[in-house]
Amino acid sequence: MIRAPDDAQARAADPRISAFVTANAGSGKTKTLIDRVARLLLAGAAPDEILCVTYTKAAAAEMQTRLFDLLGDWSVLDDERLRLELSRLEGRKVSDYLPDALSAARALFARALETPGGLKIQTLHAFCEKLLKRFPLEAGVSPGFEVLDDLGASLLQRNARSVLARRVLGPDGGRIAEAYARLSVDLDHGSFKDLFDSFAAMAGELSDWLEKAELGGGVEAAVWTALTGSATPLDAEAAGENLESMKGGPSEAAWLEIAEALAKSKTSKGERAAADMLRDCKGRPAFEAVRDLLFTKDWKIKDWMAASTNLKSFQGVASRLLEEAARLQGLEMTRRAALAGQKTLDILLLARAWLTAYTIEKQLSGKLDFGDLIDRTLKLTATADMAAWVLYKLDQKLAHVLVDE
Ligand SMILES: Nc1ncnc2c1ncn2[C@@H]1O[C@H](COP(=O)(O)OP(=O)(O)OP(=O)(O)O)[C@@H](O)[C@H]1O
Ligand SMILES: [Mg+2]
Repeated sequence: MIRAPDDAQARAADPRISAFVTANAGSGKTKTLIDRVARLLLAGAAPDEILCVTYTKAAAAEMQTRLFDLLGDWSVLDDERLRLELSRLEGRKVSDYLPDALSAARALFARALETPGGLKIQTLHAFCEKLLKRFPLEAGVSPGFEVLDDLGASLLQRNARSVLARRVLGPDGGRIAEAYARLSVDLDHGSFKDLFDSFAAMAGELSDWLEKAELGGGVEAAVWTALTGSATPLDAEAAGENLESMKGGPSEAAWLEIAEALAKSKTSKGERAAADMLRDCKGRPAFEAVRDLLFTKDWKIKDWMAASTNLKSFQGVASRLLEEAARLQGLEMTRRAALAGQKTLDILLLARAWLTAYTIEKQLSGKLDFGDLIDRTLKLTATADMAAWVLYKLDQKLAHVLVDE
């Protein structure tokens, strides 16, 4: 049995308003859309001025079937039942439906089926493809372009990787060769391959970001600015050396004093640390000993120091130790930012080189992938010189766009 659409559904299906609906899975979004199409047709909209867009082919087929089932039912219902259905759908009185209106409703099934180029229920990609084929010159695509399917796209993506690999092995691999070498060592084989798959999946966003960065101060400056607020690059190696040499910290004499105070601190940690420090070195202690004394594994300052400041023998050195801990922590943060920046930059440079190679592969094949279809359509309708003309032509044809995402 078909229930009357509930209030929210009825409001969203009212063709006199524009509606945006978010609702849980299975809560009746597609039904609302189908009701809306049915109401549009009842109100006299021509089937060929209605466009329904879905994301997958299966969703498009399902929507079509459900709409035609609904209209098909109408064509065979008796007067009384049909009046009831229409009044529920449109929220009008049963008595509003005169015989002419009933005949018109019954004829919708045939009209929707028969209209040449009729009611369009298609995927977003199919819609883009059709539009680009209609305006190839304006869109800057070859009129007979073909669409790459997933298999074809992954083949070209693999080719692009091989081209890139050959290039970095060549004599002038430069900065990209460094990035390639570092990442292929840091990542296992599977993750390295996944990295390229994610370049493909994010090709649109990546290209936009890279383009914007290049128009600004360049990719490198954009990365460092995002990370540190300044475009000046950080050197991970130098930051690591600064940290581990502990230059700029307490003098050797001061460390000795600290170690002696620790030895007398009557805290087991302090005593052990003092022993380590005094055993391992004469003068400045080893970085590892200081690190383990002051920090937890994730570089938080251990709380034993603060807790020990009330020990008389320890008071004098505790504040100096805390100061040194804060300084070392700052150096570690710089080292991490430097590493993160370097890795990010490596990845982005590799992405840029791969995207260039992939674009060339696609151009050679004369095909567009799904991402291109969407990108080109966006440019065609929003930014191309001819956008106004294209939108004008589209407007002549389409009056109602319904998207089921
Ligand atoms: N008002 C209603 N009366 C009766 N059945 C309804 C109503 N609204 C939705 N349904 C039924 O609930 C089921 C799910 O509806 P529908 O497919 O429209 O949901 P959806 O939100 O599009 O789901 P998904 O998130 O899976 O796309 C369908 O069988 C539909 O016929
Ligand atoms: Mg749905």
